[in-house]
Amino acid sequence: MRQGAHVIVVGNEKGGSGKSTTAFHLAIHLLYQGYSVASIDVDGRQQTMTHYVRNRRNWAREKALTLPHTTHFHLPVARGDSVRENHKVEFDLFRQAVVEVEHKADFVVIDTPGFDTNLTRLAHSLADTLITPVNDSLIDLNVMAQIDPSSGEPRELSHYARLVQRARSERLAIDGRNIDWVLVRNRISMLSSRNMRQVQLTLEKIALRLGCRLADGIAERVIFRSLFATGMTVFDPLDDELLGGMPTSSHLSARQEYRALVAALNLPERQASARADSRKAEGASDADSRTLAQTDG
Ligand SMILES: Nc1ncnc2c1ncn2[C@@H]1O[C@H](COP(=O)(O)OP(=O)(O)OP(=O)(O)O)[C@@H](O)[C@H]1O
Ligand SMILES: [Mg+2]
Repeated sequence: MRQGAHVIVVGNEKGGSGKSTTAFHLAIHLLYQGYSVASIDVDGRQQTMTHYVRNRRNWAREKALTLPHTTHFHLPVARGDSVRENHKVEFDLFRQAVVEVEHKADFVVIDTPGFDTNLTRLAHSLADTLITPVNDSLIDLNVMAQIDPSSGEPRELSHYARLVQRARSERLAIDGRNIDWVLVRNRISMLSSRNMRQVQLTLEKIALRLGCRLADGIAERVIFRSLFATGMTVFDPLDDELLGGMPTSSHLSARQEYRALVAALNLPERQASARADSRKAEGASDADSRTLAQTDG
């Protein structure tokens, strides 16, 4: 078994494809499996995952609930005058966070922004598993590769696909490891349509071309939007008080879909850490949510 944390990066240059939602759900799922999990939010502008983490802590505190929490790191909002200097600060802080957790956590889940930065690239090159959620639309597939309109075959690789290819080469050169890249359809329409079948077929071709795998996806469900406010996930118990509302069948179905997704990831079996158990029992403190910068209180 490999020493050190297994790094899961969630990335896609297409905005709003479900990266933060997927990253947070995965992290909480792994906590419920008894693992010690660190989460890192590389999206310094939106900080959606950080808001998700905070909402969960606030909800747990308000309702006096014992919930598992990740050890969370986020980037500061850049304050310096020089863009270059800000990037350097972010870069150094990100490295520090990774060094701090790589031998403590079983899994590190990294959420990345929907645009290319140095940090996005660095995060991708650290991935053992890279998950790319893709919205269920042909427009969104263009972020992976340009598609020939008549044959439906992928032609030129997109900017993001090339970014991942570079990250893979770097990773191979550094430690001889391959990044397991998994495409996941997200927000799949409940209504079967010609477009849906076309998306699936095209994705299969893209996956073949990019050397990545395709996992079963997550349907479009309103529940994902309502869970954000309390920081809950479909993996939290179906408890009225915990959810802040009555659980629905949609909650259960979403949970099953996510479980299938996690199974498809083939994550390494690890000795569930004792730290995670104690964390679960205590609930986590505020000290577990840290900004990567000293200045961002
Ligand atoms: N399966 C789903 N069903 C319905 N809504 C979803 C689903 N997945 C995500 N969403 C919603 O889609 C929106 C975008 O999701 P999210 O913030 O996770 O995307 P993102 O890729 O992180 O976006 P960004 O590129 O801006 O960081 C959110 O409102 C989220 O609640
Ligand atoms: Mg996001």
